[in-house]
Amino acid sequence: MTEIRTVAITGAGTGIGRATALRFARDGWHVMLAGRRREPLERVAAEISALPNARGSTVEALDAAEPGSMDAAVKRLITARGRLDALVANAGINPQRAPAHETTEENWQETLRVNLDGVHRACVAALRPMMSARRGTIVTMGSVAGLLGMLARGAYGPSKAAVIEYTRNLALDYAPYGIRANCVCPAFVISDINREWLAGLPAAQREALIAKHPLGLGEAEDVAGAAHFLCSDEARWITGVALPVDGGFTAH
Ligand SMILES: NC(=O)c1ccc[n+]([C@@H]2O[C@H](COP(=O)([O-])OP(=O)(O)OC[C@H]3O[C@@H](n4cnc5c(N)ncnc54)[C@H](O)[C@@H]3O)[C@@H](O)[C@H]2O)c1
Repeated sequence: MTEIRTVAITGAGTGIGRATALRFARDGWHVMLAGRRREPLERVAAEISALPNARGSTVEALDAAEPGSMDAAVKRLITARGRLDALVANAGINPQRAPAHETTEENWQETLRVNLDGVHRACVAALRPMMSARRGTIVTMGSVAGLLGMLARGAYGPSKAAVIEYTRNLALDYAPYGIRANCVCPAFVISDINREWLAGLPAAQREALIAKHPLGLGEAEDVAGAAHFLCSDEARWITGVALPVDGGFTAH
């Protein structure tokens, strides 16, 4: 078995997932980059190989919510590397910002499929080798929208609240195996998931939204740092938390 720690990250081609991949890579981890589109994943892989401390990466173009896809990818990783120390179940979507009655059936189903089924499938894929090794850490990507009520989050908010609860249950069920599970709950970080929507908001609404963050909007690296910390030994007594990484958004 290699000495090099290994992390699997879903949605690793862009935004928070990309920043998280680079954060782990800078700390000498081998990173499995999983995501829907191969091209952005290959770009992150190239960024990783240019880092001084890089220990390589593995690209897996897949739909993380598809039954069996993360299972197969994790099995390939274990065959090649012999270990999986951490999972960051980060992939998520927000295809429609609307209240419940305006949320289309298709967007409801797809949001729950990616944000909840996808997290579950990635976690189960990672739990199997972690249970055998009797160690491992999982970070799921929640949102402040899963902690608080927010306008026009008819499907997204419930999907993220479910991820938080799912993660707490993981913490309890798998503590006996030496596995920790925590949820990171970011407020607004400009990325592909919200860039267009934010740009399209009337200026006064955009300013009001930014003003809800006492420290201003965050950056993907701020969230990546929290995910990396929760997977590190520094966090060895932390499990089952839903950690706001939000510039003070939830302090109101
Ligand atoms: N940006 C924010 O303000 C914010 C706030 C709170 C929570 N989040 C959460 O952070 C996570 C990352 O979002 P981001 O801001 O980096 O946006 P993003 O759109 O840049 O990243 C999401 C990534 O997930 C990938 N993805 C989507 N569906 C997938 C699937 N079925 N299988 C595999 N990969 C898939 C996308 O291709 C994309 O690379 C999401 O779960 C999002 O809900 C983001």
